[in-house]
Formats: sequence, structure tokens, C-alpha cells
Amino acid sequence: MFSKHSHPLEGQRALVTGANSGIGAAVARSLALAGAKVVINYVVNEEASLALVREIEVEGGQAIAIHADVSKEDQVKNMFSQMIESWGSIDILVNNAGIQRDAAFLDMTLEQWNQVMNVNLTGQFLCAKEAAREFVRRGILPEISCAAGKIICISSVHEVIPWAGHVNYAASKGGLMLFMKSIAQELAHLKIRVNGISPGAIKTPINRSAWETQEAEQELLKLIPYGRVGDPSDIGRTAVWLASDASDYVTGESLFVDGGMTLYPGFREGG
Ligand code: BGC
Repeated sequence: MFSKHSHPLEGQRALVTGANSGIGAAVARSLALAGAKVVINYVVNEEASLALVREIEVEGGQAIAIHADVSKEDQVKNMFSQMIESWGSIDILVNNAGIQRDAAFLDMTLEQWNQVMNVNLTGQFLCAKEAAREFVRRGILPEISCAAGKIICISSVHEVIPWAGHVNYAASKGGLMLFMKSIAQELAHLKIRVNGISPGAIKTPINRSAWETQEAEQELLKLIPYGRVGDPSDIGRTAVWLASDASDYVTGESLFVDGGMTLYPGFREGG
């Protein structure tokens, strides 16, 4: 038997949306290493999702891949039913699925606006609601966790940093911050904890053009006082802490994991 210290999420059942790549995949890996069983949700790239399931199994963990578009209520409901049928319940939801559809504001189409809102905001609403309803139905299992359930909303530094050329994305993340805090306020008395992680620039496919050449990476580093671009595992480790009882008194917080991007580095010498 592993101690609760090395496996703080032993016995817990987690669902990570958009877990087939990038931050979602790293979060799924970290939760599994911490002892949780993990649902790998994906909407594209089934192969990558199945490969991640196998990788987790090889490490001695348990995972299943479930297809669902988080912006579609019927698909979200089906995904939760499948998970609950397989593993009995859910203890941790990581609302990670997110997209960018960048365009200059003057050219942004309603479709680009809606696609981003539907995944980044409505998707988080639909999944959080299903998870919270199940947490309330099941209540606290003291041998598993002192909370009835944990929801982690993956946001962005752009929940506070305005972002020209990406107004749909920044608006979705700003909205997500108050969504997260409002449900945290509403659900705390039910012993449900809701927190956000706001990553800065993390090396993933979503921002490849910002780091794939040396010149681009040097430009990006001007915005990051800590002097390195983030790795998806930086977010994975944070998610484990927020999902575990080690953070039991933390709710309604946005945790910025950004190497100091939100410290206004331009003011180090300016102002
Ligand atoms: C975006 C990335 C960007 C980072 C920092 C993230 O939320 O998805 O494209 O590099 O914020 O600006």
C-alpha cells in the first residue's frame, strides 16, 4: 500500500476535459500518478487519448477515454453517466477543455465568438453542473476526502490581462473567473470546493507559434520574469494540490501559475 502522502488522491475518481493534449493531458498524468482514476475526455484525436490511457496503465494507474463535446448538453450528460456507471461516482472535475479562435476585432465573426464562448464558458458550466449534482447526491466519503467534491476550472492569465486580437478568448476567461468564484460561493456550504488555475504561457499546441522558433521564444520570455516558458507539468502539479485535502481550506481562488507574467514585467524598469 502507498501512503496517503505519496498518493494524496488514492481512491478518487477524476474527470479531465480536453485531456488528449497539452495541459489537460499533463493534468490527467499528474492526477493518475497521485493515485486517482482518470477519465480522459476528448472531442478530437481518439488515438492520442487511447495512447494516454495506455501510458497511465503502464505506470500502474487506471484511466478510460470518453468522447464528448463539452459544449453539448446531451453529450456531457452521457459522459457523466458513463463515468458513474464505470466507477460509481466522481470526486474531482478538472474543467480544462478550451480553444482559441483568434482574429482582429474588426474582422471577428460571430462564429469565432460563439465557438470560443461555447467551449470555454458554456462547456465549463455544463460539466460543473453535472459534477456538483453528483457531489450533492453522494455527499462526503470521509475515507476518500474531507470535501464532497472538488472542481478545478482551468482559466488563463487572460482572465485579468486584456489581449488584443483575442477578445473572444479574454472575454471567455474573464467570465470564467466570476463563474468559478460565484459557484464557489454558492456551493461552499455543501463542502464542494471550486478553484481556478490561471496558467501563463505554457508550451502546448495552442500557442506553438509563440515558442517554436528561438526568436519567438525570446520575445515571449520578455513577458515572463521567471525566465522560462511553462511546462504542462507545472499545471499538473498545481491541479494535484488543489484536488487534494492539502488545500482543504482553499475555495474560490484563482491560482496564477505564470512565472510572474501577471507582475507587469514592463514596470521593472519603467513607470
Ligand atoms: C493562451 C496562450 C498564451 C498564454 C499567455 C494562454 O491562455 O492560450 O496562447 O500564450 O495564455 O499569453
